[in-house]
Amino acid sequence: MRLTVIGCGYVGLVTGACLAAAGHDVFCTDIDENRIDLLKAGKVPIYEEHLDAVLQRAARENKIVYTSDAGEAIRAGEVIFICVGTPPKDSGEADLSAIDHVARQVATEARSPKLVVEKSTVPALTGVQLQKALAAYSPAGGIKFQVASNPEFLREGTAVADFFHPDRIVVGVEDEKSAATLREIYRPILEKKFHCPIHNGKCPGSTSGELLVTTISSAELIKHASNSFLALKISYANVIADLCERIGADVEEVTHAMGLDPRIGTQFLKAGLGFGGFCFPKDIQAFIHLSAAVGVEFDMLKAAERVNKQRIDRFFEKVHKALWVIRGKRVAVLGLAFKANTDDIRFAPALEVIRRLVEEGAEVHATDPQAIARTKHCFPNVAYFDDPYEALKGVDAALVCTEWPVFRDLDWAKAGHLMSRRLVIDGRNLYSSKKMQSLGFDYYSFGRS
Ligand code: UGA
Repeated sequence: MRLTVIGCGYVGLVTGACLAAAGHDVFCTDIDENRIDLLKAGKVPIYEEHLDAVLQRAARENKIVYTSDAGEAIRAGEVIFICVGTPPKDSGEADLSAIDHVARQVATEARSPKLVVEKSTVPALTGVQLQKALAAYSPAGGIKFQVASNPEFLREGTAVADFFHPDRIVVGVEDEKSAATLREIYRPILEKKFHCPIHNGKCPGSTSGELLVTTISSAELIKHASNSFLALKISYANVIADLCERIGADVEEVTHAMGLDPRIGTQFLKAGLGFGGFCFPKDIQAFIHLSAAVGVEFDMLKAAERVNKQRIDRFFEKVHKALWVIRGKRVAVLGLAFKANTDDIRFAPALEVIRRLVEEGAEVHATDPQAIARTKHCFPNVAYFDDPYEALKGVDAALVCTEWPVFRDLDWAKAGHLMSRRLVIDGRNLYSSKKMQSLGFDYYSFGRS
């Protein structure tokens, strides 16, 4: 099938690449011409595991085309996936101006009927607005557009793996024809008929995931309800961690045992600096906003958001307790990305940690396997090191902000000799307290004594 992807960010590029791998002819467009030029030159503007290989293969097989001419891309595809950004406004409400802009482009540039699919995370009822906008912007006697919602459940860092091996594919539609079209688009994924870069083309099992057909409003709500629930789960674990510290329990023991109950599950119960990234913080705000707008109080989400914001305060209580005065101290920040395996620093807790350290007069040494280049734009005066051991040389403390495997596997016996003081304040609970203490470290983490 011929598919158009509008917006070549994390979601759009992964969607375009993986749908091309599934055998479709994909036309990608973006208003950022530099981005399109980079893609045409075979470069990937973001770091996402396996994405490079999937895009290269798609280009070799002539399955993917990049163009900054949105009209050309819109006319080329039978189905149009909207993958543009929906950032938060100051009020927390999602800013849908990019979606509105795309609706106008589609309505004026299309020359034949299209199925227009919302893939960007949008508040419930956006589908209704999109349908209205397409009709309103369409020239008189215009073309008929169908709208669908197909939320993504891709985690940054494992987005390609998540796309190829979904738990579920949700398609919110208005009619059976749209459902059949989307089922056809995803058939190669469900039947594993694509070259998988993760399993080298040989994925275990014969099928994966389940395609659920719902109404558009349900599909929109499924996305927000899922992300907000996961965010709630993390904040819950973080409050348990605070309680553990007060009563001398160990949060790892508590959450591990809780998670063995299949009704609870072990994932997303990791206590620490809390959630960041461009999804949870903005989605939880947008969901609070939407609920209030339709007259439903969702106080528990407000509490989850408050708990998350307080994680940095809790972290700094530990930093102050351990370091006493911050001014004049040299401090290493291990991890800048909002989580491991990505170069994304949007709403990353590490940035707020650095901001406060700089404000309080510390000399900061920062390191991260992927996110240094992006962070330099925010903090040009911080010292950056590719090698974590170099970052640790002569520091009074190491602050762990991201759970990268390279930090998990650090040789702290070696690092201890490089540091001027053996002090680690771990925002991601990466190490065993006993082991760190046995190496002579003053070691602070969350929810453990
Ligand atoms: C999240 C969802 O997991 C995806 O399903 C969804 O598609 C995506 O948002 C989206 O809406 O686009 P993502 O933001 O990439 O994906 O990252 P997560 O792996 O969910 O982690 C979010 C944050 O929570 C990170 O800062 C992570 O460090 C933190 N986290 C996660 C914890 O603090 N504790 C945990 O136990 C798990």
